[in-house]
Amino acid sequence: MENFSFYVPTTIHFGKGQIENLSSSIKQFGGSKVLLAYGGGSIKKNGIYDAVTNELKKADIDFVDCDGIKPNPPVSDVRKGIQIYRENSCDFILAVGGGSTIDAAKAIAAGVCYDGDVMDLMAGGHGEINAAAPLASVLTMAGTGSELDMGGVITGEKNHKKHTIMHPFLYPKFSILDPTYTFSVPEKHSMAGCFDALDHLLECYFVAGSETTDVQNMMNEGVMRSIIKNAPKVLANPEDYDARANIMWASSMALAGFQFVAGKKGSKWPMHGMGHELSSLYDMTHGVTLALIAPSYLAYTLEKAPQYTWLFANFARNVFGVSEADDATAAKLGIGKVKEFADRINMPKNLKEAGVEESKLEYLAEKATEWGSLTALCEINKDDTLEIFRRAFN
Ligand code: NZQ
Ligand code: ZN
Repeated sequence: MENFSFYVPTTIHFGKGQIENLSSSIKQFGGSKVLLAYGGGSIKKNGIYDAVTNELKKADIDFVDCDGIKPNPPVSDVRKGIQIYRENSCDFILAVGGGSTIDAAKAIAAGVCYDGDVMDLMAGGHGEINAAAPLASVLTMAGTGSELDMGGVITGEKNHKKHTIMHPFLYPKFSILDPTYTFSVPEKHSMAGCFDALDHLLECYFVAGSETTDVQNMMNEGVMRSIIKNAPKVLANPEDYDARANIMWASSMALAGFQFVAGKKGSKWPMHGMGHELSSLYDMTHGVTLALIAPSYLAYTLEKAPQYTWLFANFARNVFGVSEADDATAAKLGIGKVKEFADRINMPKNLKEAGVEESKLEYLAEKATEWGSLTALCEINKDDTLEIFRRAFN
């Protein structure tokens, strides 16, 4: 197993009614004037805005709204938040929403402590994160894991490229996870979130070095199984509390570091790299992009890295209960099961059905690899990426 350091400082308040911890937790971290960041208004319709602001008012915590944060959040939303935070002398950021809102809040938190433009602070930029405002989240949609990680994804202006911002200062101080808050998430976003969480686990599972990481692999398999079991239950009954609760916790666990790339040889997150380009060009929902790519990516990787057939076979047997004894056959059956799962939760069948133009595949492959190959189990260069997009097309 490779060396690694493990640090996750976020407190999770999980379950029905946990919003009652909101004000005391904010005060614990010195918050007295809160920037309340949220999206396009769903929290005003489902009552979460009232639940949050009532708690703040009861505790005499002042707040100012930063509304309208869009999915795949553009940097303009981040800049707006930085301005509101500064103009109102805020000292705490509370994100109420899904990954887009929490990610934007993380970039705002770093941006308010930096003199230059916030884009400098994205991975590969020339700025440095030396401090960040304290932030926390009230999660309203499960999937990204942003509530329990130190990263965010922001859409820049140039080509709408998605950039990552990441620093230990950006871990939420606490996150409130009330599964009932996810009852109102529309079916498409609920299921996209399930696939996103599954994909985080896949990206961490199919990584070089997995030969030695039994703990990470086996925890990963368990969390994957819980998603595969509970996503159809959410689909059948969006108010199934235990199914929503398991999906919510599984999504957090998927990126919390336990079965992350810790102890493995590192990964460039190929499926996310490709998916982000689909979101950049078509403003496509993040989890949907992953469901479109995963089956082709896995099949292609199995062909290119046959020395990992055993890992694909383990996946098939331990996650999907495939009983086939021959590794090569089991490996293929497992990949077929991923596609069956995507179909079962109503993801679009292929890129064509999702509205992608065939003429754009070359451009998408070019953009996905513009910062280098997307290596995980094996190198995935531009030509490999193009082939994966082609196989996912129809
Ligand atoms: O904007 P509002 O009105 O809030 O509506 C949202 C949005 O339209 C809606 N929604 C959320 N909670 C709801 C609800 N509607 C009704 N009831 C509720 N309780 O759902 C829609 C999608 O929300 P969004 O936040 O965009 O979804 P998600 O959580 O999937 O976040 C996607 C973003 O996260 C990034 C993605 O790239 C994408 O930009 N990611 C962040 C990661 C991280 N920080 O670690 C990792 C991920 O891999 C991912 O890249
Ligand atoms: Zn993701």
